[in-house]
Amino acid sequence: MLKRYWRLTLASALLVSGAVQAQGVAANGQQIVMQGDGSGAPCLACHGMDGAGNNLASFPRLAGLDAEYIAKQIRDYNSGKRVSVVMQPNVDNLTEQQILDVAAYYASQPVPKVEAATADAEVMALGEKIAKRGDWNNYIPACESCHGPDNQGMGVSFPGIAGQHANYIKQQLNAWRSGERHNDPNQLMTGVAERLSEQQLEAVAAYLGAQQAVAAEGGQ
Ligand code: HEC
Ligand code: HEC
Repeated sequence: MLKRYWRLTLASALLVSGAVQAQGVAANGQQIVMQGDGSGAPCLACHGMDGAGNNLASFPRLAGLDAEYIAKQIRDYNSGKRVSVVMQPNVDNLTEQQILDVAAYYASQPVPKVEAATADAEVMALGEKIAKRGDWNNYIPACESCHGPDNQGMGVSFPGIAGQHANYIKQQLNAWRSGERHNDPNQLMTGVAERLSEQQLEAVAAYLGAQQAVAAEGGQ
């Protein structure tokens, strides 16, 4: 009798949580990574099966990013809030459930080991200063103040940028500056990117790219 009661309670609790928030199924996401959305290229062609991405080609690392952040970006490409001619055609056929699935898959991949720093010590020191303390003379807050301790990400809104590829970071900061990327809530990133000098931008990208990433909560 008691056993049956618990089973019922558990079942209704699962039903309730299911109704509140749809869940991604990583195993189904893996299929999408291999096959694509039916019209575009498979994700693995650029992001890799493991989500490691590629620094030279500026393909972002997806492994270990927050699943909800990944899903938001895909929705933004599809609504035109974020524009990329390379990315858009690969995800525009995905259903909402498939978006959640592929996000769950990449979020659950272990983060790859970071590439060795190639910038010299002076550049790395400037990058670390911007990342951890900012530049208050020029109204630039520390990246950490939003992206979380050591820039490992904070909740669903502030992605981990430590261990993201330096070339991709640079490209995104430039995209915000030029107005090409404008999907940040309340223009939080636009304000920061606009104030960085060229030298600071290069340095912070080099520094962040050389930090070991830690997976977002729920990842590995
Ligand atoms: C032809 C190469 C290519 C393929 C195939 C591809 N992507 Fe991308 N992806 C990119 C590039 C390049 C970017 C960065 C674009 C930009 O500047 O916005 C990107 C960005 C992203 C982002 C944003 C990451 C972030 O940190 O904000 C997500 C999420 C993403 N891709 C998911 C996918 C998924 C899921 C698939 C497969 C269904 C896929 N991509 C297929 C090249 C590709
Ligand atoms: C005031 C808060 C805030 C500060 C400070 C901030 N960011 Fe961001 N950043 C954001 C938000 C919010 C996003 C996610 C935007 C979105 O949803 O697409 C973001 C996204 C990014 C991305 C894109 C990551 C990806 O995977 O595509 C990069 C790169 C980035 N920030 C770099 C920086 C750097 C470098 C600094 C420090 C110089 C910095 N940010 C400081 C709020 C901030």
